[in-house]
Amino acid sequence: MDGYSSNDISQVVEADRAHVWHHLSQHKPYETVDPRVIIEGRGMRVWDAKGKEHLDAVSGGVWTVNVGYGRESIANAVRDQLIKMNYFAGAAGSVPGARFAQRLIEKMPGLTRVYYSNSGSEANEKVYKMVRQIAHKHHGGRKWKVLYRERDYHGTTIGTLATSGQAQRAAQYGPYPDGFVMVPHCLEYRKQWDVQNYGERAADAIEEVILREGPDTIGALVLEPVTAGGGVIAPPDGYWPRVQEICRKYNILLHIDEVVCGVGRTGEWFGYQHYGIQPDFVTMAKGVASGYAAISCTVTTEAVFAMFKDDPSDPMSYFRDISTFGGCTAGPAAALENMRIIEDEGLLANTTAMGARLMGNLHALMDKHAVIGNVRGKGLFCGAELVADRGTKEPLDEKRVQAVVADCMAQGVIIGATNRSVPGFNNTLCLSPALIATPDDIDQITDAIDGALLRVMG
Ligand SMILES: Cc1ncc(COP(=O)(O)O)c(C=O)c1O
Repeated sequence: MDGYSSNDISQVVEADRAHVWHHLSQHKPYETVDPRVIIEGRGMRVWDAKGKEHLDAVSGGVWTVNVGYGRESIANAVRDQLIKMNYFAGAAGSVPGARFAQRLIEKMPGLTRVYYSNSGSEANEKVYKMVRQIAHKHHGGRKWKVLYRERDYHGTTIGTLATSGQAQRAAQYGPYPDGFVMVPHCLEYRKQWDVQNYGERAADAIEEVILREGPDTIGALVLEPVTAGGGVIAPPDGYWPRVQEICRKYNILLHIDEVVCGVGRTGEWFGYQHYGIQPDFVTMAKGVASGYAAISCTVTTEAVFAMFKDDPSDPMSYFRDISTFGGCTAGPAAALENMRIIEDEGLLANTTAMGARLMGNLHALMDKHAVIGNVRGKGLFCGAELVADRGTKEPLDEKRVQAVVADCMAQGVIIGATNRSVPGFNNTLCLSPALIATPDDIDQITDAIDGALLRVMG
């Protein structure tokens, strides 16, 4: 680790222990063990404060660093842009902002407008605000509710937590605003209906909620294309066409939350593009600039955009949202270079190929370890659900799931697991390596899980 003495590093660890409040972390253990500090990253690998090398199978912990660590070309693009023009509030345009919007829209037929902000939560909140404003302006105050799905997650703010399909994320932070209504999940492994056409049946459950609430009260439906932290759920066949049909039937705007799946993670530019659907809103964040800068985008159609410019004489009629840091140029500058890398290095095709290898390896592990009840995913977002008993599908105790994650960490491979998500179901291992993964990387990840399962399950 160039540039730091061991004294520097131990001071950093102490400063962290004394002053940093880490996200999603219980801090009591840090009184006796060192908090983890990551010092350096290169490609698929990171080094911690002890100098230990890790293969990162979760792209920075929360599925973000899609093109891998240490990309000098992104750093240079950001540096050059910052020197030229670092910031101006979003009421004005910027060179990288305009260019990235154009490049993005080229990849999203049917969509035309990009609204910039800084996090996935913020991008999703923009949609909820747009839906409410459309309700006020165009539906006489009706069609103001937003439907969301059990097990999905859309962010950490109070507004987006109101659409949390993961009870443990939302617990203790309420009460929440009205107008957000849950529909059932579509995970066939944990089936709620005994039918052949499970995908269509799960989508029909959305229609049942619409009819219960009254179609004229519902403005939008927000869904993850593949549910990520709620258990890695790629919807069953038949689900998406029926969802689209239902939205059209009741004039409900379809919002796809691509914060995790967007910009290559599933092997297409966007997860929804596997399914031939046409959304009205698409939100994205994490992989847009692979964590080299903070950027999120709320993308929508010209029809939605037109509803905010049809009454120029009314000073209240346009989208009166503000995002101070939506005007930072580092985000779109990094995003442009990130997109170039994905194209020039053929990373969508690599994601498809490596995703297939990862799935194949996980299926092979399933033959060997009865504790793996189900494997699922899309591209390089894969999960293995661990169960105490394959017959009853009783979830494996969370402590043992975490022991598998810890064992992999001890081997120098960072994997994830569903965590403080759906009560009783924090039992799915999550794998989301960078899109640059090689066959050896994929095999190293599944070998580590193999060893961990042997040790933890005895
Ligand atoms: C599907 C999904 N949407 C939204 C978010 C929120 O993104 P952020 O943490 O950038 O606010 C996340 C974060 O994990 C997510 O997984």
